[in-house]
Amino acid sequence: MENKIKDIIAKLTLEEKAALCSGVSSWETTPIKRLGIPSVNMADGPHGMRKEVYEASFTNLFDKSYLATCFPPAATLAFTWNRDLVYKMGKALANEAKDQEVAVVLGPGINIKRSPLCGRNFEYLSEDPYLTAELGIAYVDGVQSENVGTSVKHYAVNSQEFRRLISSSEIDERALREIYLYAFEQIVKRSNPYTIMSAYNQVNGVYASENKLLLKDILKEEWGYKGIVISDWGAVTDRVEGVKAGLHLEMPTSGGERDAEIMRAVKEGALSEDVLDDLLADLLSFIFKCDANLAKNKGFKADYASNHILAKEVANEGAVLLKNDGILPLKEGVDLAVVGKLAEHMRYQGGGSSNVVPKHEVSFLNYLDTLGVKYSYSPGYTIECDKISESMIKVAANSTIGKDVVLVYVGLTDDFESESFDREHLEIPKAHTKLIEEVYKVNKNIVIVLTGGSPSKVSYYDKARAILYIGLTGESGGESNYELLTGKVNPSGKLAETFAIDLEDELSNQYFGLPFAEYRESIFVGYRYFDKAKKDVMFPFGFGLSYTKFEYSNIEVSHKSLKYGEKLTVSFNVKNIGHYFGAEVAQLYISNKESKQIMPLKELKGFEKVFLSPGEEKTIKIGLDDRSFSFYNVDEKEWQIEGGEFDILVGSSSRHILLKETVFHKGNEKNVADYTLIAPSYFNLEKVESIPLADFEHLLGRNVNPYIRPTHKKYTMNTCIGELHPKGFARFFRWIAKIGGQRLGSAGKQTKAKKKMLYEGTLNIPMRNLYAQSMGRVSKRTVEGLLLMLNGRFFKGLAKTISGLMEKRADKKETYGDAPELVDND
Ligand code: BGC
Repeated sequence: MENKIKDIIAKLTLEEKAALCSGVSSWETTPIKRLGIPSVNMADGPHGMRKEVYEASFTNLFDKSYLATCFPPAATLAFTWNRDLVYKMGKALANEAKDQEVAVVLGPGINIKRSPLCGRNFEYLSEDPYLTAELGIAYVDGVQSENVGTSVKHYAVNSQEFRRLISSSEIDERALREIYLYAFEQIVKRSNPYTIMSAYNQVNGVYASENKLLLKDILKEEWGYKGIVISDWGAVTDRVEGVKAGLHLEMPTSGGERDAEIMRAVKEGALSEDVLDDLLADLLSFIFKCDANLAKNKGFKADYASNHILAKEVANEGAVLLKNDGILPLKEGVDLAVVGKLAEHMRYQGGGSSNVVPKHEVSFLNYLDTLGVKYSYSPGYTIECDKISESMIKVAANSTIGKDVVLVYVGLTDDFESESFDREHLEIPKAHTKLIEEVYKVNKNIVIVLTGGSPSKVSYYDKARAILYIGLTGESGGESNYELLTGKVNPSGKLAETFAIDLEDELSNQYFGLPFAEYRESIFVGYRYFDKAKKDVMFPFGFGLSYTKFEYSNIEVSHKSLKYGEKLTVSFNVKNIGHYFGAEVAQLYISNKESKQIMPLKELKGFEKVFLSPGEEKTIKIGLDDRSFSFYNVDEKEWQIEGGEFDILVGSSSRHILLKETVFHKGNEKNVADYTLIAPSYFNLEKVESIPLADFEHLLGRNVNPYIRPTHKKYTMNTCIGELHPKGFARFFRWIAKIGGQRLGSAGKQTKAKKKMLYEGTLNIPMRNLYAQSMGRVSKRTVEGLLLMLNGRFFKGLAKTISGLMEKRADKKETYGDAPELVDND
């Protein structure tokens, strides 16, 4: 193969080489028919196939794709803590990809949940890097075992939606390595994903898609990555710098604009053709591998009915029982009231590029009806309106009078969290909390069924006898809810993120939502912060109840004392001492007791999910290695172990530790700077309320890159539409852009959430993307003209805009024709 590729590269013209570096369309790589280079395709997304029907149409975004199984999104998937189940889901996703002739699934999303406010948290797994890595590996291995590629995204430090295409994540190297890169590193080393998707944002002032440190030094040289890097859709600013840094493929097509830039750079000597050839060798081997897979997979028929059942299993294991005084499971024949529109209109996924058109969606009410279960129902609120309707709430509350149990469906609706915008607070809609209050006045037997892709404020805790957090359920939510509430299935999910009592309790909150995101909390993300600051939380990381009870005993370690290079095995027993069959996720944390470093109190380093019948006991063994005990020594640029005593903590959540052993590790650390002097606040999180800029800059080793909003008439290609000051032509232009943004998704169902997503998304678009993401409809020249107009040179700009509009754009897609009509895949 290597020779074949060398041969092809030798025959490619410069034009063809440049053309290969970007797509031919939204989803396909560029073919070079003359040399037998095929085109391979990709489709979103992490929790189900979103293969668009008319890939080139701008108005059908998110609505018109082939029907597919909608599995629970990553947030709920992570609550399963079940590697085998995630692997199985990966295989099922791949099977649907094969059925739909897709070569690469654009997932998993493994960004770390830095703040509950990130609108896209529902697409990500956890606040913890170890859990993210373990589940990410299972996902990638599952998909790739079926000869379908993955795209692990978004590399890296992409934890907010606000100004996501221009923001800079300002982050110190320890947080980068230990928290934000860890899962990427592990997945690359252990699963060799076909592709990595580079993020939209900058990392420490350099765009991720042209970041040599991330793409070349770390990913390729340090981790030995063999696959290719694809830009997130529209993430490229400087394509030539991207080529130099190691970005193989720009997606979607730029309609030939970037091809011209690459060619010019080679001709002018600014880019060596050898560098381009190196990238092409990786890219071609990826294309040929995918093409061979597509040939092997042709004619494959996925079993969508089994996948629907698998989606239910994921929803079952992903539900977290947050409170229960014994009212659950529901007794047989119970006189049941259901209130809350979310029971009827279940939120089975989040909004944006991951939006699957489900093949077979079943709501809770649908399922009760199918089974012939008797219940009363009243919606209490509408999905799209946060305003309280006193009359609807009154009717709903009255409908619960005298009922044995009231299931109150509440939670985050689509316009509260989505791709494209972040949340502003932790609250669920006011109408939902009011509904709980009014029901409580007439019936105290309340079971809250909570929906959401990210934690919300649980102000109603005392009013509920039980709270079942169903997350985002995927298409089988109705069946899953029924099985969990009735005890047919025993809840076994555990939170993969902390539920804070209030937003103000989160340290990151003070630094979240800025155009340039200062990651001042450093490694203190999620429970790492709450533990160190000794703050109470609503529900801790790793928490989740069951209908049965488990007993932990008999912890043993293979060594009491260890040297660098030695492995440790920890074993302990878990016994089901209750009356229901159930599953427990036993969690192992390590605490570096005597650290002189900036160090969390404990960190997750192992877990195992065990399924146990009543009375059954199993021994769990967890292996630990050097890395489990290491921290990243930024002064030495190495993972090292600080010698001393470490507690091995085993428990049922991060705050419910049941077993403990202590081991001594000889360690191997060298030359560590004394951070107690240069960044004292990190040692004192219990007392300090914020991190002084000086401390953070000491960690960074430089000043923070400041965000400077472009002033009126000083706009550049990287200026976002939302940054334009509404004056003169810029005001008119913003208005036009808003209308254009709405047109983008104008086909299909127009919901408030979708409109908000498109509007906010438009404000976050930089000028450069008006051509780079236009699929060849808009030329760079046109946008240069617009910029001149925005910068006060109206007539010169107008002339350029018009001449740009008249340019004949290369249609890289011409040879392919339209995609087929929407079909059911039976
Ligand atoms: C998202 C990616 C997605 C891509 C293609 C982007 O906006 O950030 O996660 O895979 O679109 O739909």
